[in-house]
Amino acid sequence: MKSSETTSEKKLDQNQGNSKNKEKSTSEKAQGLRDLFENELKDIYWAEKELTNAIPKMIKNATSEELIEALTSHLKETKNQVDRLQQVFESVNVKAQEKKCEAMAGLVKEAIEIMESTAKGAVRDAGIISAGQKVEHYEIATYGTLASFARILGEDEAASLLEETLNEEKAADEKLSEISDAINLDAANQDL
Ligand SMILES: [Fe+2]
Ligand SMILES: [Fe+2]
Repeated sequence: MKSSETTSEKKLDQNQGNSKNKEKSTSEKAQGLRDLFENELKDIYWAEKELTNAIPKMIKNATSEELIEALTSHLKETKNQVDRLQQVFESVNVKAQEKKCEAMAGLVKEAIEIMESTAKGAVRDAGIISAGQKVEHYEIATYGTLASFARILGEDEAASLLEETLNEEKAADEKLSEISDAINLDAANQDL
């Protein structure tokens, strides 16, 4: 136990050393759970906006009617989630601001790479579902955490709004799982 702690502490030290110039001043660092909550809210705000640009690309590349329908309906939900986040910011008296979410930027980049490296049809559809579910799982983790932070901070209105989005992300993930069975089977046959 002690040795693993030492290793991770060492890694953190090294990382701090590597990004010495990017090191934030103490006043910019999250001092408590409320700061952390606000930072992560800005992060998911950027991520949702990014998704309103990325999902249309996935729709354009998809061929399965069911997949196109699922993505189109989730695009509508996603636009609504951006508005809902503005309500969350308002309810906690914080200006709605975006902060680049490196994780979502990576997931979207990966989705584009998958689409570019697959033949149009069932195989690309299967790839789009795989990329889409990674996005949904990231969102589920984020909204679950944010809702929990909001409850602890006594921000019940924000918590309820965040839980509403959390449920939409879970439903979107389940929908993709549901339609993946037939598409993956088609993709397997396309290989033959
Ligand atoms: Fe979302
Ligand atoms: Fe989503």
